[in-house]
Amino acid sequence: MMFSHLEPYAGDPILSLNEAFQADPRPDKVNLSIGIYFDDAGRIPVLDCVRDAEAQMLVANAPKPYLPMEGSAAMRAEVQKLLFGADSAALRDGRIATLQTVGSSGGLKVGADFLKRWLPGSGVWVSDPSWDNHRAMFEGAGVAVHPYPYYDAATGGLRFDAMCETLRSLPPKSVVLLHACCHNPTGVDLSREQWQALVAIVRERELLPYLDIAYQGYGDGITEDAYAIRLFADAGQSFFVANSFSKSMSVYGERAGALSVVCASAAEADLVLGQMKATVRRNYSSPAIHAAGIVGRVLGDPALRQAWEADVAAMRERILAMRQRLHAVLGQRLPGRDFGYFLTQRGMFSYTGLSPAQVDRLRDEFGVYLVRSGRMCVAGLNSGNVERTAEAMAAVLA
Ligand code: LMR
Repeated sequence: MMFSHLEPYAGDPILSLNEAFQADPRPDKVNLSIGIYFDDAGRIPVLDCVRDAEAQMLVANAPKPYLPMEGSAAMRAEVQKLLFGADSAALRDGRIATLQTVGSSGGLKVGADFLKRWLPGSGVWVSDPSWDNHRAMFEGAGVAVHPYPYYDAATGGLRFDAMCETLRSLPPKSVVLLHACCHNPTGVDLSREQWQALVAIVRERELLPYLDIAYQGYGDGITEDAYAIRLFADAGQSFFVANSFSKSMSVYGERAGALSVVCASAAEADLVLGQMKATVRRNYSSPAIHAAGIVGRVLGDPALRQAWEADVAAMRERILAMRQRLHAVLGQRLPGRDFGYFLTQRGMFSYTGLSPAQVDRLRDEFGVYLVRSGRMCVAGLNSGNVERTAEAMAAVLA
C-alpha cells in the first residue's frame, strides 16, 4: 500500500463550495461563493472583444510553438503599460521585469518560490483576513506567513492604525502582501491618503510590498484601480505585482496573468527576470500561448481595447446596481440595522458579517451559497435573484 497513509483532502473553502453548488439540483439556487462575474442572465459572459481577438487568431492560423519562459513579449509590454501607465518612469528606465504567468496564481507561486530562494530570511505578512490561498501558496513555497490587522468587524471598514503599527514593527525586507484594489474577501480598500501613508512606512522600514491585483476595473475604473501600483512605482520603491485577467476579461480558464517586479535599476531587473525564468522552468516551463494572444490583442488593438474598457465599466456598474438593490431591500426589511457596508465596499466581494451558522442556513433553506467566512460575491446577483436573496438574508439575520 503506497498511499494509504495520506491524509484525506478537506477540500478548498471556495472551489469545493462551487462544486457543491454545481451539484445542487434546486433550480432557483444562487451562487455567491466563487469570485466569478456573472451577467444579468446568470451566465459567465464571453466578451465581444475576446471573441474578436480569438477570431483574428483563427484567421491567422499561426503555429503554436512553446512561448519563452517569460511569456509573450507583446502581451508583457501591454501588461506593463496597463499597470504602470505608458508614461511610467520605471518603464522608461527598463526597471520593470514582467513575466506572463499561468493566471495570477502562477505569478504568486513563482514570486513566492523566488523569494524563498533569494530572500530566504524574509517572512510574508498578509491581511487578516485575506484570500485563503495566499497563505497556502506562500507556506507551500516554504515561506513563513503572518497576519497584519486589516478588517474591522465592528464597522465593516479598515483597522488602518493597527495595520500601520504592525507594519512599522516588521524587520527590514519583510514582504507585505497588499490587495491593490477590491480587497478579497472584504471589499474594504485603502483610501488614496492611506496608500500614501503606507508608502512612507514601507520606505522607512525597507519593506517589500507584494501587490495582488485580480479585479482591476471592478473598483473605480481601470486606471483608478492602478493607483497604488503607480504610487509605489513613482516613489522609487522596489515591489512585486501579480495581476490577473480572469475577471476583467472573463477568461477564467485561459489562465491569463502576469508577474511584474519593479527594481532599482535596469541591470537589477535583468537579474530578476533571469532568475524568474529559471523559477518558471522549474514550475511549468512556459505559459499559455492562447492566453497571450487574447490579452495582447485586446489591450494592444485600439478598437478591441475600447470595447474592453466599455465592458469593464458595464460589469462594474452592474455590480454597483446590485449593491444598491441589496442595501435597499435589507434596509426595508430590517430597519435600524446598518447595511451601509454594501455601498462602501468595492469590487466583487462584500463581507456580510453572517456567521457560519447563518451561511449554512442560507444554503440549506434558501439555496443561496456564500463562503462560510460570510464573504459574498455580489457579482452573482442579478435582477432575477437579488430580491429573494435579500429576503433570505433578512430571514436569517432577523
Ligand atoms: C475567489 O476568491 O473566489 C477567486 O479568486 C477564485 C479562486 O480561485 O479562489
